[in-house]
Amino acid sequence: MEKIILTGDRPTGRLHIGHYVGSLKRRVELQNSGEFDKIYIMIADAQALTDNFDNPEKVRQNIMQVALDYLAVGLDPEKVTIFIQSQVPELTELSFYYMNLVTVSRLQRNPTVKNEIVMRNFETSIPVGFFTYPISQASDITAFKATTVPVGEDQLPMIEQAREIVRKFNQTYQKDVLVEPEAVIPSNEICKRLPGTDGSAKMSKSLGNCIYLADTAEELRTKVMSMYTDPNHIKVTDPGSLEGNAVFTYLDAFCRPEHFAQFWPEYESLDALKEHYQRGGLGDVKVKKFLYAIMDSELAPIRERRLAWEKRIPEIIEILRKGSAEAERVAAQTLSEVKQAMKIDYFNDEEWLREQMQ
Ligand code: TRP
Repeated sequence: MEKIILTGDRPTGRLHIGHYVGSLKRRVELQNSGEFDKIYIMIADAQALTDNFDNPEKVRQNIMQVALDYLAVGLDPEKVTIFIQSQVPELTELSFYYMNLVTVSRLQRNPTVKNEIVMRNFETSIPVGFFTYPISQASDITAFKATTVPVGEDQLPMIEQAREIVRKFNQTYQKDVLVEPEAVIPSNEICKRLPGTDGSAKMSKSLGNCIYLADTAEELRTKVMSMYTDPNHIKVTDPGSLEGNAVFTYLDAFCRPEHFAQFWPEYESLDALKEHYQRGGLGDVKVKKFLYAIMDSELAPIRERRLAWEKRIPEIIEILRKGSAEAERVAAQTLSEVKQAMKIDYFNDEEWLREQMQ
């Protein structure tokens, strides 16, 4: 069986380092592994509209930002197909048929949907489009017969829902048309959910605690130097705590052994650094400078690639246009198989045509 990746992001803002360690970095590794026959990366504008229907301008403004972020992290348009969800209408048609295979109570039990309903104050009036977006996400995945979906951990319930739809479809229509996808999530626990720079559980634009891939070196420095640490670590000599200390959480996510030789040879390992911090005698500023050096070494090439691509916008438009056309061809093929399995493909159905003539 072919190995196919599909994944995507909602274009509601520029992508940040939570996206990067949670999924983008892995996508680039998978792309470069050469193990996949096809890789599709989707800008999920239609899904973004399910909770931003009254703000299409925001979605529209962020299409290019997300495309730039993709190219900046090293996704290579020669190796992956980048496309825009709304430009593939077959996805919507698939969703309509999949809706028959999912119950309202199943959607209500979807943990991601449940959370998001609370976050968006939708409790009293949930837009139907929003409520059914897991079904639309199943269409995104299955239209490309994706076997592998690299995503953040919060997306696991979405992939599970897609798997259920695949099983139900193949069983109901007695044909193995659809392929059950598997999620790929980060193996490093810290990378599954990188906290904001203020130490709060989630990096989010509304909380103003994000480090963006597009941030300049100066912005990065300012954000790192004002990160939340241990509020009781007041004097350098005080013992410091690692618990909830965002600087150390980020070090867990970004620091590799070679960074010590490169940026801070007085220490041999992250464990040695943590030990000194907890013992007392190590100030936050020094640790933050080290974190900045590490993060800048990882983010500088991304920033530079972004600046280079910003000068090539017409090419990016072509990449998106061609990618969307290719995605549509593939989705149309799956849709025709789906309709055939459901026996609603009348004009190509010899049996149906013959029956009418009798
Ligand atoms: N729900 C994903 C997010 O919020 C975006 C998305 C839409 C997606 N369709 C997808 C991810 C299909 C993986 C596969 O980030």
